Amino acid sequence: MEKIKENIIKKGAIPVSEFIQIAMNEPENGYYLSQKPIGESGDFITAPEISQIFGEIIGVWAFDCFKKLNLNCDFQIIDLGGGKGTLLKDISRINKNKNTKYGFLEINKHLIKEQKNKIPQSRHYKKISEIPNLPTLFIGNEFLDVFPIKQFKKEKDKWKEVFVKLENNQFRFCLRDIENKKIYRDALKIVPPEADFFEINLMLDYFISKIGEFLKKNNGIVIFIDYGYVSGYGNTLQAIKNHKFVNPLDLPGKVDLTAHVNFSQIIYSAIKNNMDYFGPISQRKFFIKMGALKRLEILSETLKNKKDKNNLELGIKRIIEKDQMGELFKVIALAPKNKLIPEGFD
Ligand SMILES: C[S@@+](CC[C@H](N)C(=O)[O-])C[C@H]1O[C@@H](n2cnc3c(N)ncnc32)[C@H](O)[C@@H]1O
Repeated sequence: MEKIKENIIKKGAIPVSEFIQIAMNEPENGYYLSQKPIGESGDFITAPEISQIFGEIIGVWAFDCFKKLNLNCDFQIIDLGGGKGTLLKDISRINKNKNTKYGFLEINKHLIKEQKNKIPQSRHYKKISEIPNLPTLFIGNEFLDVFPIKQFKKEKDKWKEVFVKLENNQFRFCLRDIENKKIYRDALKIVPPEADFFEINLMLDYFISKIGEFLKKNNGIVIFIDYGYVSGYGNTLQAIKNHKFVNPLDLPGKVDLTAHVNFSQIIYSAIKNNMDYFGPISQRKFFIKMGALKRLEILSETLKNKKDKNNLELGIKRIIEKDQMGELFKVIALAPKNKLIPEGFD
């Protein structure tokens, strides 16, 4: 990608966060703006595409939250980075309340089109500040993992930052002095003392503070589901192309570059923004508690074809089995203080 090379030539090396930022968000060629990432023909598949039960269970959870909030006005559900729109479509199918509004926060033009096709009445936003003031359920499934991270590595007892340089016209990782001391010092608050490598998501705190502000004003709750860890450290930067792991520095703009979400950073941010948090718990526990297996049984009975029954079962297994997505993916919900205690987390 020319922009990355230009910046490296100008500065000698750029932080890994800048490499990711350009690769994913550069207006012309950035991965999330230009590619069709999700599905068998894309680079990866997400839970709503694997099983309709995923969206249905989130829907049941959402309507229970709205009930607990005791609302007697319209409300909306906003999918943060809504992918192909399947999750909201599955929720809207089980929702009897015709006044519910549906919206997406999305930047990918191909996905915006697919989302419109799936839910024609939905609205699209690029920023939280554009979203109408109504009680809201925000859903972020594999949303926080898309944002750039900074990486820090201890070398001879001194923390350095991971940068990217050019060597024989190839991108290579290297260590340099820390670029932004404030981000580093803030990050140290959630880093275990024994760590020799850690990462910090650069947009997570921003999104949680914006969503927190919105929810305090309008009422509601946000649920994040993502792959990640609750406490720990290490290098989790990964790149996926055509459902296979590839080198993160190869083909910027053409591969999905992500990192595992540090759920301690979400908790830290929730506390800083004066919000209650519920979880994190494993995707397995949450979906079983919320009745995914019961739903499987009921849906299965409606199917005549053995192959369809089998596929339905395989889909939900992929979502909850410990050696598949069940343990790696975690669920956390955040809400303004003392408003409600949502189901599924005790
Ligand atoms: C990993 S996909 C997950 C999609 C979907 N939630 C699902 O479960 O299928 C990430 C989504 O976030 C969107 N996205 C990436 N950066 C974004 C940003 N800055 N603002 C809003 N959406 C973004 C992508 O276009 C994509 O829809």
